[in-house]
Amino acid sequence: MLENRKILLAVSGGIAAYKAIELCSMLKKSRAEVKVICTENASQFVNPLSFEVISQNKVYTTLWGNDIPIPHIELADWANMIVIAPATANVIAKIAQGIGDDLLSSTMLAAHTPVLIIPAMNINMYNNPATRANIAILRERGVFFMEPEEGLLACGYKGKGRYPLNQEILYHIMIYLQHELAWKGKKVLITAGACREDIDPMRFITNHSTGKMGIALARAAHIMGAEVTLIAAHVTEEIPEYFKTIRAFNAYEMLAECKKEFPGSELLIMNAAVSDYTPAEYHKEKIKKNEDLTLKLVRTHDVLANLSRIKQPGQLICGFAAESENIIANGKAKLQAKNLDYIVANDLGVAGSNITSCTFIKNEDEFALIGPKFPVAVQILDFISPDIIRNEK
Ligand SMILES: Cc1cc2nc3c(=O)[nH]c(=O)nc-3n(C[C@H](O)[C@H](O)[C@H](O)COP(=O)(O)O)c2cc1C
Repeated sequence: MLENRKILLAVSGGIAAYKAIELCSMLKKSRAEVKVICTENASQFVNPLSFEVISQNKVYTTLWGNDIPIPHIELADWANMIVIAPATANVIAKIAQGIGDDLLSSTMLAAHTPVLIIPAMNINMYNNPATRANIAILRERGVFFMEPEEGLLACGYKGKGRYPLNQEILYHIMIYLQHELAWKGKKVLITAGACREDIDPMRFITNHSTGKMGIALARAAHIMGAEVTLIAAHVTEEIPEYFKTIRAFNAYEMLAECKKEFPGSELLIMNAAVSDYTPAEYHKEKIKKNEDLTLKLVRTHDVLANLSRIKQPGQLICGFAAESENIIANGKAKLQAKNLDYIVANDLGVAGSNITSCTFIKNEDEFALIGPKFPVAVQILDFISPDIIRNEK
C-alpha cells in the first residue's frame, strides 16, 4: 500500500527506540522505501545495524562523514513523509525551537514534507509545561502527532507516555499518504458516546455506547485534513486534544449543541447514542427504596430528525443505527424516514468492543465492514469522500 512512497524514519534516544525496528520492518513490508536517521543517543539504545539490514539502506547518525555530502538537505528533499518514532522530549523541543545541532534536528529545519511525531516518554516529561508548549507550537505549524498511550511505563511510572502500537502508526502513515489532506478545510461535526438521563442526584438511565467509533471517526477525519468538532457525551476513552471538543451529556444538551454547530458544518456524523427516553420528572432528592417503583419516561426530541429539517443544500448527514435484529432493513428505514445521505447500520452483538461489524448504506448501495474501529472509520470516510470533496459549501 505504500509502494513508491519514501519514508524517512527518524529514531531518537528513548527507551522505545527498539520498537521502531518493528515499524521499519512493517513499512518495508508495506512496500515503502525507507531511510533511517538515528540520533547518537538512539544508538545507545539500538544498534543502527538493525535498521540498516531491515531498511536495506544506509543508516545516518551524524552530519559528518556520510556517503552524501549534505545529508540533512538531501534526506529532507528525498522523503515523502518524515516519521519521528519514538520522539524524545528533547527532539520535540529542538524542532519546536528551530535548533539544528545534530543530523535529525538539522533535517527537520530543512523539511518540507508532512511530519508525523510519535512522542514516548515518562509521564512527567510529557506533562512538563515545556513539552506541552513545544507540542502545541508544532501542532500549530501543521505537524501531526499521535497521542502516547496510557499504561505502565518502562520507567516504572503509570500514565500517559507509552509508545503506541506500530500497527496504529502504520495506519496513520497510510491514511495520511493516501489522502494527502484531501479533506483540508472541510468542517466536519461528529457526535460520540452515550447520553445519560438523570432520575435523581444518584441515578440515571443510559446505554452501552463507548464513544470509541465516534472518536475513531474524528481521528480519521482529522488525519485526512478536516476541521473536526466533536460533541461528546459520556465516553470510555480519552479524547485526543487535537480537535475542538464540546461536551453534551444528555439528549437535551446534545440537541442544543448540535443545533449550534451544525449550520457551520459540511458533514455531520451522528454517532452518539442519544437517549430516546428521559424520566418525565427529575427527583431533586434521592428516591427512597420502599416499594416497587414505576418510572414514567417520555420521548426525547429526535436530534437527527431535527437537524435533517434544517439541513441546507451542500450539507451531508450520516446517521448511525445500532440494531439487534433486521440490521440492514432497520437501517434503511431510518435512512429514509430521517432523510439522511448515509447510514451506518451496526450490529449490537459486538457493542462495547474495539471491533465493529456494520453496513454502510448510501441510496441502494450497501457495503459490509468489519474490523477494528479505526480502519473501519477510515473506510466510512472513504465512501463519503467523493461527495464531500465535490461539495463547494
Ligand atoms: C535509560 C534512559 C531512558 C530514556 N528514555 C527516554 C524516553 O523514553 N523518552 C525521552 O524523551 N527521553 C528519554 N531519555 C532521555 C534522553 O535519552 C535524553 O533526553 C537524550 O538527550 C535524548 O537525545 P536525542 O533526543 O538526541 O535522541 C532516556 C534516558 C535514559 C538514560
